[in-house]
Amino acid sequence: MAETLTISKTATKAEKYQELLPQIKALTSVESDVTANLANIAAALKYGMDFFWVGFYRVETNNSTDFEKQTLILAPFQGPLACTRIKYGKGVCGKSWKDKATILVEDVEKFEGHIACSTDSKSEIVVPAFGKDGNVALILDVDSDKVNDFDETDQKYLEELMKVIEGLLYS
Ligand code: SME
Repeated sequence: MAETLTISKTATKAEKYQELLPQIKALTSVESDVTANLANIAAALKYGMDFFWVGFYRVETNNSTDFEKQTLILAPFQGPLACTRIKYGKGVCGKSWKDKATILVEDVEKFEGHIACSTDSKSEIVVPAFGKDGNVALILDVDSDKVNDFDETDQKYLEELMKVIEGLLYS
């Protein structure tokens, strides 16, 4: 089956998300493999929203409940090569994991401890998804090559997307 996205070129950012989310839900509803779904979601976000870099990091527990012994590992993404492992509390992704909260970074140079996978990345938004145990299971990271490119609209819709993804992780 050919998979295509339909996003209006003239739509506002909110409208693009509103067009994209039902398509992502439909696309993932017919596939049960989490990696395959995350791969298509990364592509849908990259090409639907024209993001510079978009991808996931999954929490690898290493069979430990000690977060310091756990790590984030790079999962499906679209864009330039990225760092493969991030420690608890480190960088924007590790802080989002630790804080269990979305982080909007207007200017990566002003975020202490920011991990620069690409020097072209100027702003980013990081959103966690939770497992059934209430711990962070997955992190979504979206980067822009422009400063101050993300706002509450991105936060609202990307958090909604991560709730959809939580459903995929549980099934
Ligand atoms: N900037 C992130 C690292 C991941 S890359 O941007 C893809 C961070 O500080 O956690």
